[in-house]
Amino acid sequence: MRRLMLAAVLVAAPAFAQTPDGQEEISVLPEGPGQEEVFYGCSACHNTAVIRRSRLSREQWDGLMDWMVEKHGMTPLEPADRQVIVDYLARHFGPSQQRPGWRNPFLN
Ligand code: HEC
Repeated sequence: MRRLMLAAVLVAAPAFAQTPDGQEEISVLPEGPGQEEVFYGCSACHNTAVIRRSRLSREQWDGLMDWMVEKHGMTPLEPADRQVIVDYLARHFGPSQQRPGWRNPFLN
């Protein structure tokens, strides 16, 4: 837990999309179906920075749901929610998505 909190402090640097007390707001996540499920379902134990900095394939996101349940005590997701969440994660945080503001140095 201490490590988690430290990680949260280290990665929560951007000041935008946070309330004055440092809480994240839902707007940190890209809009679209699944945004609410991910925000409210996945930020109970850690903030969304661990999600936002990940670039995983659909299979990897799907497997991560099991890992989160088995290793970290997440309540298993209902199949319908899981579908929405994994779709959302794969769409917005898939391997081909580049970080906002990231520019390919070889193309500039
Ligand atoms: C019951 C608590 C809990 C819930 C709910 C939870 N997580 Fe996690 N998650 C953890 C813990 C604990 C870690 C490990 C943190 C560490 O390694 O320091 C973690 C780590 C992660 C990581 C980082 C994996 C890596 O690369 O090391 C990602 C991505 C992640 N969670 C995504 C999610 C998503 C998406 C959801 C919602 C579907 C979610 N988590 C819900 C507890 C939770």
